[in-house]
Amino acid sequence: QIVPVHVLKRSNPSLAVFFFSFMSLITAFTSVLPPELWIHLAVVACGNRLEETLVMLKSAVLFSHRKMRFHIFSEESLKSEFDKQLRQWPDSYTKKFEYRIYPITFSVGNPQEWKKLFKPCAAQRLFLPVILKDVDSLLYVDTDVLFLRPVDDIWKLLRQFNSTQLAAMAPEHEIPKIGWYSRFARHPFYGSAGVNSGVMLMNLTRIRSAQFKNSMIPTGLAWEDMLYPLYQKYKNAITWGDQDLLNIIFYFNPECLYVFPCQWNYRPDHCMYGSNCRAAEREGVSVLHGNRGVYHDEKQPTFKALYEAIRDFPFQDNLFQSMYYPLQLKFLETVHTLCGRIPQVFLKQIEKTMKRAYEKHVIIHVGPNQRR
Ligand SMILES: *[C@@H]1O[C@H](CO)[C@@H](O)[C@H](O)[C@H]1NC(C)=O
Ligand SMILES: *[C@@H]1O[C@H](CO)[C@@H](O)[C@H](O)[C@H]1NC(C)=O
Repeated sequence: QIVPVHVLKRSNPSLAVFFFSFMSLITAFTSVLPPELWIHLAVVACGNRLEETLVMLKSAVLFSHRKMRFHIFSEESLKSEFDKQLRQWPDSYTKKFEYRIYPITFSVGNPQEWKKLFKPCAAQRLFLPVILKDVDSLLYVDTDVLFLRPVDDIWKLLRQFNSTQLAAMAPEHEIPKIGWYSRFARHPFYGSAGVNSGVMLMNLTRIRSAQFKNSMIPTGLAWEDMLYPLYQKYKNAITWGDQDLLNIIFYFNPECLYVFPCQWNYRPDHCMYGSNCRAAEREGVSVLHGNRGVYHDEKQPTFKALYEAIRDFPFQDNLFQSMYYPLQLKFLETVHTLCGRIPQVFLKQIEKTMKRAYEKHVIIHVGPNQRR
């Protein structure tokens, strides 16, 4: 029987530190994967989103197993800072990914107009299937997303798509009665409460070859040909920019969308009016989405605590000692808030992720013949 490492750790801290050094052994295995098996992660970072983006990428690197390629779309002015900071990460982590930084470009329509849509640069995401022509599939996330478990786990959902599905998102709201789209939207939207585009899986190969039904012409349109006319038709009715356009697209093409549960895109909305994400209550939050700037103000201390714990974790340290225990302490201070009342929802996955990382190291070290 294998002794769980968190137990070992309590009795002998030096043992845990010793096991942790086997992390580098694991990352050595991941680098031999052929590129077609890599995970592709895309983000669009403009304005003051540099730090947030780096913390998101850090959370992806800390917990994932497979090699990743980051596609970072950014304004020219942020490029050198991305380069500088990513290169400062320790080798054992930089080995786990490659990255490319792209300028913001719009292939159809008026670039200035696209830039004005909701947030500067937000519309870039709609063009990923056109720009990343050599990439089969992609996980797109907003800069304010944090992975609390391996990216590998959400990536696996791509394989669950049926033959018509080509993208996956979580619902915008669990309860249509209090959802934004169901109460206010002046345009068509997916399902009963819309979808949130902050965490989005895309099979780009399928998106590039599909014909999409739409409200403009009776025959279908290819993705790239549909974007600008769609924007022209709805621009006066949309509030949330590209997310609204995606909702309109999947309203007309519901069979193309795979809807994953809220634990993969967990937002303040899921706890600030009382807990309304059942999947997260059961399994814990897998992907955290701190929208409305909650990592940077005092409105949702639980979200901020997680952000700061990951941001401040010194790469080479013991995850339990330097991240998990301080995080637990910080959570104790948030129990008076609506989201802080349910700390286990936030901590369950991240604790499990860390335990697994340790257990894996023990198994590799002890080897199959030496287990007791
Ligand atoms: C994406 O779709 C294409 C075409 O159906 C398929 O060949 C490919 O395996 C899919 N990618 C993933 C990761 O499922
Ligand atoms: C794929 O799943 C979606 C969503 O459940 C459904 O609307 C669609 O009909 C399914 N496609 C096929 C080919 O079964």
